[in-house]
Amino acid sequence: MMRIFRPFYRWLSRSLANQLLFTYVLLITFALGIVTFWALYTMKSEKIDDLRNSMEVAAVHLALEIDNDLGLDSEAATRRIQSATDRHANRFNFGITVVSTEGHVIADSGPKALHEGTNIRGDQEINDALAGIAAMNIRPSRRTQTNWMYVAYPVRSVGHTAGVIRVGVPLTEINQRLNRDLIIFLEIIFATLIITVMISLWLARRLTKPLTDMTQSARQIAKSGDISVFVPVQRNDEIGDLGLSFNQMIGRLREEERARQEFIANASHELKTPTMAIGSVVEALLSGAVEDPDLRYQFLHSLENLVERQSNLLKDLLDIAKLDGGVEMEWKNEVPLHEICQIAVEQVRPQASKRKVELSNGTAVDGVVLSGNAIQLQRAIVNLLTNAINHTPAGGAVTLSASSVEPERVEIIISDTGSGIDPADLPHIFDRFYRGDKARTRTAGGTGLGLAITREIIARHHGSIDVESTPGQGSRFSIKLPAQVTVVAN
Ligand SMILES: Nc1ncnc2c1ncn2[C@@H]1O[C@H](COP(=O)(O)OP(=O)(O)O)[C@@H](O)[C@H]1O
Ligand SMILES: [Mg+2]
Repeated sequence: MMRIFRPFYRWLSRSLANQLLFTYVLLITFALGIVTFWALYTMKSEKIDDLRNSMEVAAVHLALEIDNDLGLDSEAATRRIQSATDRHANRFNFGITVVSTEGHVIADSGPKALHEGTNIRGDQEINDALAGIAAMNIRPSRRTQTNWMYVAYPVRSVGHTAGVIRVGVPLTEINQRLNRDLIIFLEIIFATLIITVMISLWLARRLTKPLTDMTQSARQIAKSGDISVFVPVQRNDEIGDLGLSFNQMIGRLREEERARQEFIANASHELKTPTMAIGSVVEALLSGAVEDPDLRYQFLHSLENLVERQSNLLKDLLDIAKLDGGVEMEWKNEVPLHEICQIAVEQVRPQASKRKVELSNGTAVDGVVLSGNAIQLQRAIVNLLTNAINHTPAGGAVTLSASSVEPERVEIIISDTGSGIDPADLPHIFDRFYRGDKARTRTAGGTGLGLAITREIIARHHGSIDVESTPGQGSRFSIKLPAQVTVVAN
């Protein structure tokens, strides 16, 4: 049983359009079915009423013509009754029988007319009419064996019943008329269904066309990675919304793709410059052009710088790749804030003393624990400290401080008394590869990735980073992070 429905079910579940179509057709068929049923039912009883009325008219007409002859019992009278009966039967297209008060047939119409004198008192309607009541009966006809409807009327003459006029009609005729109506109805239903199917097909297509378009675009992107397509959005409804979101998603993908390409171009460019410089220094050394030991030492020294720059750049690129999700990292370790501040300061102390910059650690965060990755957080603080030291002239000061600001939040501040940042640069310093004072910072060995990496690390820890700077007076970087403050056990 279920197997029969399976192909239909598959057709139905294959497309939204099919489901809509099916729903429409089902609803319309149901509605039309009810209307037809109701209409046929009312029409049938109306038809029967009509028929009874005309049967009564025929009987009344005939009665008026024969009521005088009915009591006469002469051959001439009987002939007159017979001819009137035939006339009325032909005119109205009914079968008509006239019966005496004893139930004997006086006259009968039709090709298989009952013989005069046949007693048909046994017919229920005749019996009732002889008792003075108009009666209706539906039963098989004596002559044709098919169902007929009979109506019998008593004929009154001067106060008593003088006979009975019975009018009959085959039920097949009623049914035939009803069938004709039914066929017309079925034709209307069929035509309506065809129109419904066409309209709902059109509606369903209109609804699902943008969906199939979108699916096609998505498939195209999935297959070829080509994100040059937008789907047309011409609607204000939910489907229009979907199209809009779809296009927004594509827009976002394009943006990311562009950023990725830009990043690769920048990275290659940054790698190319020192690599070519290394090439020419090595070439000069190999060709034996540098005989002077002092000069040769200088060459080798610059080679060392170039290689260091290269390795710094590679380290930063690797970090970015890691942060962009290329490598799995643990982000949920318990990190004691005081400890990582200490390590970060010790790490940059040699640089600070080399540049004669005073470095101080004013952290007051014993017992504060962050949730995250210690190495990465350390890295973020070191980046900020290194920048501060690099942009502060000899004699200046760089300070690290950290404290709990809100119940579950700490602030880490790295401030310096250095050059400060040009307001024009300020909005860009967190961008990848962005360097403020190109010439100077380049010689300082910066990659332009430090702040980008720092911001990414802080974001991964659900924190925020801000900067304030006054050119000529110094800069102040502030990191805010969620933290737990635990009581230190002594
Ligand atoms: N403490 C600071 N003082 C002045 N300028 C700074 C400071 N920190 C960052 N900058 C500016 O922001 C730019 C970007 O910093 P960063 O991303 O660390 O790159 P890099 O240090 O490699 O130049 C620097 O080139 C510099 O112009
Ligand atoms: Mg830096």
